[in-house]
Amino acid sequence: MLHEYRTAPVAELYARFAAVEARGVSPLYEALASGVSEDGEVCDHIAGLPDQKRQPNLVFAASRHLGAPVDDYGQWREWILAHWDSVVPVAMERFTQTNEAARCATLLPALAEIEGPIALLEVGASAGLCLYPDRYSYAYQTPSGTVTLDPETGPSPVLLECELRGSPAPTSLPNVVWRAGIDRNPLDATDPDTRSWLETLVWPEHHDRRTRIAEAAAIAAEDPPHLVTADLNEALPTLAASAPPDAHLVVFHSAVLAYLPKDARTQFRDTVTSLDCTWISNESPGVFPETTAPHQTEAGSFTLTVNGTPKAQTHPHGRTYTALRNPT
Ligand SMILES: C[S@@+](CC[C@H](N)C(=O)[O-])C[C@H]1O[C@@H](n2cnc3c(N)ncnc32)[C@H](O)[C@@H]1O
Repeated sequence: MLHEYRTAPVAELYARFAAVEARGVSPLYEALASGVSEDGEVCDHIAGLPDQKRQPNLVFAASRHLGAPVDDYGQWREWILAHWDSVVPVAMERFTQTNEAARCATLLPALAEIEGPIALLEVGASAGLCLYPDRYSYAYQTPSGTVTLDPETGPSPVLLECELRGSPAPTSLPNVVWRAGIDRNPLDATDPDTRSWLETLVWPEHHDRRTRIAEAAAIAAEDPPHLVTADLNEALPTLAASAPPDAHLVVFHSAVLAYLPKDARTQFRDTVTSLDCTWISNESPGVFPETTAPHQTEAGSFTLTVNGTPKAQTHPHGRTYTALRNPT
């Protein structure tokens, strides 16, 4: 769990990041994190940051934002030690708010089953790029071939590809009539500096994801989302009450609740389950272990739950959706 994980000693934090998060996903970040975990001097620098600012994602992104070379640990080490005084303010001012529109491909099977019109409310929305599931195109790989879905207006510049296992492909896109989000620090993806930061948060090898941010940001700019600056627990009841009453309210979140301490996650669950809404959660299994852990077989995957019932294991960046056969 990210929240608990942040409080670990720096060497342990980076070793775990290398072995669990970066391995097989980003060889460059795996090598950097593994190097840091064995480098007392660099660990001492990072340990000078507050707990929540020591995370590898943030330190690596801050260094890349300032031009650090990441191809070789030795070069990165030399750079970070020479530029540490510049890295600190970037790490202190900014947050890891990776916004991945491709997660819509794993939300769509649940959204497509809901009769619209839909009022879509995302908690932890970052720049709100997941609030446009109706504006993207999809290509689902299924055992019987590829199924494509496009918005009513025709193919979108943003094409989300996802392998579906054990589930039929959705047959339609949702009819979203209202969209809004909450974030403690909402981002404006049309601002060049903000977009540059969002792109830097994407791991170095994932060029397709960087391209997608620009394309999805252009779609969001045509119809900007209403994003409220607040803690999600504080703002959810009021924002939910402002949704149009004749639409079906869907409250969703992905890659958010791991940032919250356990009592705040519990508070959120109590609030969302008291609302007249469908609740879709796409989070790491540790977020609500009591409902999700027994079903997980794919290491590193998220669990997608609808109203607390586990439905699928999903790739954290939306690349696969594996239906859970025997949810309880
Ligand atoms: C990793 S990003 C995920 C963004 C988006 N949900 C997605 O899937 O692309 C997590 C977001 O949650 C927000 N966040 C974390 N804790 C929050 C809280 N207590 N209240 C509001 N937003 C929060 C962060 O600011 C960040 O933008």
